[in-house]
Amino acid sequence: MNLFDVYPLFDVNIVKGKGCHVWDDKGNEYLDLYGGHAVISIGHAHPHYVESISRQVGTLGFYSNSVINTLQQQLAERLGKISGYDDYSLFLINSGAEANENALKLASFHTGRTRVISFNKAFHGRTSLAVEATDNPKIIAPINANGHITYLPLNDTEAMQTELAKGDVCAVIIEGIQGVGGIKIPSDDFLHALREACTQYGTILILDEIQSGYGRTGKFFAHQHSGIRPDIITVAKGIGNGFPMAGVLISPMFKPVYGQLGTTFGGNHLACSAALAVLDVFEQEHLVENAACVGAFLLEELKKIKGIKEVRGKGLMIGLEFEDPIKELRLRLLHEQHVFTGASGTNVLRLLPPLCLSMDEAQEFINRLNKVL
Ligand SMILES: Cc1ncc(COP(=O)(O)O)c(C=O)c1O
Repeated sequence: MNLFDVYPLFDVNIVKGKGCHVWDDKGNEYLDLYGGHAVISIGHAHPHYVESISRQVGTLGFYSNSVINTLQQQLAERLGKISGYDDYSLFLINSGAEANENALKLASFHTGRTRVISFNKAFHGRTSLAVEATDNPKIIAPINANGHITYLPLNDTEAMQTELAKGDVCAVIIEGIQGVGGIKIPSDDFLHALREACTQYGTILILDEIQSGYGRTGKFFAHQHSGIRPDIITVAKGIGNGFPMAGVLISPMFKPVYGQLGTTFGGNHLACSAALAVLDVFEQEHLVENAACVGAFLLEELKKIKGIKEVRGKGLMIGLEFEDPIKELRLRLLHEQHVFTGASGTNVLRLLPPLCLSMDEAQEFINRLNKVL
């Protein structure tokens, strides 16, 4: 059997990781400014993480959601405290798309409505409603194109208010910072107006913090830079540092109904032990503060480099927009300088390193970037 060939691959076989570095099968070391697509939050192969999940799998890896799982309860308590949402409830699943799918479903159960507002260039995942809310016709199959979504320009307050005033919108779904869309930041004013309009017209506000959350921008959630509180928040990627896991944080205005949501694997014992180990390391190593501090340094230094059209971002979620396509630049960074980076579209280089990136590693990235510019 062959693999179903949907990924254009770099010709590199990564076999080992440690902190912000990975190694290929030939022993070459790479600086990881990509974090396996924003997934590696506490660093590769962190000893506490390795010890915790090894111990858990040797004790009990999985049992179903039909019995008490105290690890889920511990995770909900600790995530509530660290994120500032301890009055919200937690529903655990396995991937970002699944988190958004459940968030939209909850919003529809709650409001009885079916229309959703999303934004130009948004990415919310590849399952049914999540992909319909994703502004990329190439990945929306005919079976997913069901006319639920109205796309609006990001930060266009008037267009958003006009649409919500129609009174039939179930939910607005918005990324804390658009990742795939090219590190586009919703303005504080826009988020405040959005919060107000959603409350006024009975629309559920869903913040997709799958890429921008979990400390990445120097606050636990990107929307916390603006001070608003959404009704539902979705998280994934960094929550398990590579263990497939996701969560929906749900405001107390939603009342749970037995059987309304469910999953076989979501919140299993092994996943919870991974997520709890991640939170231990967040606290012990002050990773949210580190993302703020090292991210500010990187942003400042990158803005000094000539030849970059625009540098945008917050904390360790940074986009470098170039006049020309970056494909060649990214390949040279990888093969000549041994640096992994991400991309958004054709012209934006995306940085999503582990949140433990040190000042020295940030400086090292700048040195290596300068060599290929
Ligand atoms: C903002 C955002 N939402 C949703 C998703 C989908 O997550 P997953 O690939 O885990 O389904 C992603 C993945 O890149 C994302 O960046």
